[in-house]
Amino acid sequence: MNKKKLYKKFWDNGYLILKNFISKKDIKSIYAQINDLADIALNSEKKFKKNLSLDEKYLKLKKLNPNLKSHLYDLTKYCDSLVRLAGSKKFLDHAKTILKTKTAFIDTPQVRIDHPKENLNLPQHQELNQLSKDVITFWIPLVNINKKTGGIFFRPKTHKLGHVKYKNSDMSATDAGPERQKIIDKLFQNKKLKKYKSITPSLNAGDAIIFHSFIFHGTHANITDKIRWTYISRYNSIKTAPYLRRGNTTLRIPYTADYNLI
Ligand SMILES: [Fe+2]
Repeated sequence: MNKKKLYKKFWDNGYLILKNFISKKDIKSIYAQINDLADIALNSEKKFKKNLSLDEKYLKLKKLNPNLKSHLYDLTKYCDSLVRLAGSKKFLDHAKTILKTKTAFIDTPQVRIDHPKENLNLPQHQELNQLSKDVITFWIPLVNINKKTGGIFFRPKTHKLGHVKYKNSDMSATDAGPERQKIIDKLFQNKKLKKYKSITPSLNAGDAIIFHSFIFHGTHANITDKIRWTYISRYNSIKTAPYLRRGNTTLRIPYTADYNLI
C-alpha cells in the first residue's frame, strides 16, 4: 500500500496495523537490558540463581521485594534500547506524517508489564493527560498475543467522535477502576454509538498498532502464567499542546479539561 493510502486509512479508521514493525533484534535488546536491571535488583536480595528466565527473575523480585520490583519497572523507560527505538526514523516518519508536522514531542517510551493471572483488564478509555490533544500511540507486543495472553481491544473510528464525556471520564482508567468498562459498554449501546463495535486484533511479537488518542481502547487480562510484555511510545503534536500557548497551565492536559476546546 502506498503511503498516501496508508495514512488515509489511518485517518478513516483511527488506527493502522503494521506487521513485523520492529525486529527480533530490537525485541532481544529490550529484554537483554531489562534482564540487566533484574540482575542488579535481585543481586541486592542475594537469593537467586542467574540462570532463571527474565519472567522468573521479575516474578521472584515481585515476591521478595515489591518496592524494588516497582523501581525496576520505573527505570525500564530510561533504558537506551527503548529510547533509541522511540526516536528511530521508522517511528518518527509515521508519527510526523500522520501528525503533519516536522517536529513532534516524543513522550517517554515504556514497557508495560502485565503480570500473569492477575485478571486485570484495563477498561477502554481515550488517551487523555498527554502533552497535546493529538497524540499517536504505538502499541507493540513483545510476545505473541492470543486469547489467553489478552491484548488490546478497541473501537475503530471512535476518534471521529472527539473527546467523549461519560461518568468518571475525568479520571484515569486505573483510578476509574473495573466499573469503567460497564460504563463504556453502556455508552456504546446508545443508538448513535451502537455502530462502533470493539475489535481485538491478533498480533505477534513485533507487530505494531498505531492509534489516535481519541480511539476508545483497553486491554484484556493476561490469564497465562507468563508476563505479557508490551512496548509503548507516544508522539504529541506541537500544534495542540496548551503548554506552548499559555503561561498558566500544566505540562500535561488535565483529565478534567474539555479537549474539544483545545
Ligand atoms: Fe491508553
